Parts: sequence; C-alpha cells; structure tokens
Amino acid sequence: MSITAWSRPAPRDRAGSGAKGEIGRLRGHQVIGAISRGGLWLNLRNVTAIDRRYRDMIERMFGEIAARVPGFDAPTHQAGIVISSPDAQVYYHADLPGQGLVQIAGRKRVYIYPNTQPFIRPEHLENIALFDVEVDIPYEPWYDWHAQVIDLEPGQMLNWPLNAPHRVENLDTVNISMTISYVNDDIRRTRILHLANGMLRHRFGYAPRSRSIRGPVFFAKRVMQKLLRDGKSVKRERAVRRTIDFRLDESDLGKIVDLPKEPPKAALAAA
Ligand SMILES: [Fe+2]
Repeated sequence: MSITAWSRPAPRDRAGSGAKGEIGRLRGHQVIGAISRGGLWLNLRNVTAIDRRYRDMIERMFGEIAARVPGFDAPTHQAGIVISSPDAQVYYHADLPGQGLVQIAGRKRVYIYPNTQPFIRPEHLENIALFDVEVDIPYEPWYDWHAQVIDLEPGQMLNWPLNAPHRVENLDTVNISMTISYVNDDIRRTRILHLANGMLRHRFGYAPRSRSIRGPVFFAKRVMQKLLRDGKSVKRERAVRRTIDFRLDESDLGKIVDLPKEPPKAALAAA
C-alpha cells in the first residue's frame, strides 16, 4: 500500500510525479479523513491477490469483454483500488500493461493521448521498462488539443489503447476507482522488446531500430534482457528512483511530515 501527495497548486504545465509516503500509525478512517482534506491519494495495490471476490469479479468482467471483442485476451491481470482527494490528479504518463479504469464513487476527467510520437517515443517506453517509473515522460500543454477527454461517472469503465499516455483530474469530489492492468502474449513480448532496446541504448550506446516482437532479432533481445535485467545497475537505479518521501502527520490530520532524504537501503546494499 502506498500513499502519494503532490505540491499545490499542481504544476499543470509540466509532467511531474507525486512524492511517495507511508501512512505511519494512522488508522484506516484517519487515512480517509486525511485524503478528504486534499493533496493525497492512496493506492491499495493488487487487491485481486488479497480478496478472491475481487479476482472473481475481474475475471467475469474480462469474460464478458472477450465474448464481445473477438481476439481479446487478458490471461494475466491484477487490480488495485485508488482512493483520492477531491483535488487529486495523476500526471501525464504511460503504462506498459493493458489498462482499464472502473469508476466506483466520485467523478474524474480522463485525458487520453495518441500512442504515437511525439506524445510517446520508444525511448520513453524503454525507460519505463528499465526503471519502473512511469511519469518521467515529457508533457506539453498543446498535447491536450489532441487528447480524447472523458468525464467518468460512477458505474462507468474505460479502456484505452496500449501505451497511450493519459492523465487524470478529479472533479472536486473524493474518488474511489479501481485500476486494472492486464498482460497477454503480445503485451509481454512488447515489454521485453522495450526492456531489451532500453538496455541496448543505455548500456551499449546503440540506438535500436527494430521493434519486432517476433523472429530471430527479437529472440536474441529476449535472451539478452533475461541475462541483464536483474543486473546491479538496473536494480540500483530502480531503488534510487523509488524512495519514500513523507509520512502522514499523526497529530495534525491532513498534513504530512517530510522524511529525511537518504539513500534507500537497497541502493546502499547494491553500491
Ligand atoms: Fe496509468
């Protein structure tokens, strides 16, 4: 479980990631109270692994989609529940797995951008695959002219094309939403491709040209990324990029306490 905060007023003219925090010793209702005061969102990760009822529901949902969309396949999936403040927003980013969003309570505005250049470039997807950080991709306000904008109401669900960048703004209500991510064989191969191409670019200074997810070149990349992906440099970079920045204030609900900036243990161990 992680909780995220961001600076206010939110920087609308650039992409940015929220700071990550922990809930400390606060009880559940206090956490929800803090969220309702603004500036926070709470992510209950992978609820389908924790409660069988969520898993059954998501499987039924994918079954219904597969019955109506020929060729659709989502054998591997997981879902989380995000509870977010009335003023919350998720900055411009892209995800490697297939994505869905189910609105349970509150209203939000979702901007979906084309999954083509300049909105998303191969290097961005490679960085996401390498470093596991989705929001470090550039955003320009004029991108919004090309966005599909959808106001999501309770009971509605949204899917978008693979790797399409998106951002989300809550519409002045506390929001409860379920985020669903899924993987099939093509998506898995695409992820391997981005990881291998990222390694070629970062480790060997080679600009990869092939984006094929089948054939001998892809096979060679698959072997290479398997050998390198758990290497020390990638692990260290991931550890450095994912730190815990704050804790919820136990004495003043809705406030946060900054945690001292120090290298995480995983980074020290890998150094
Ligand atoms: Fe996303």
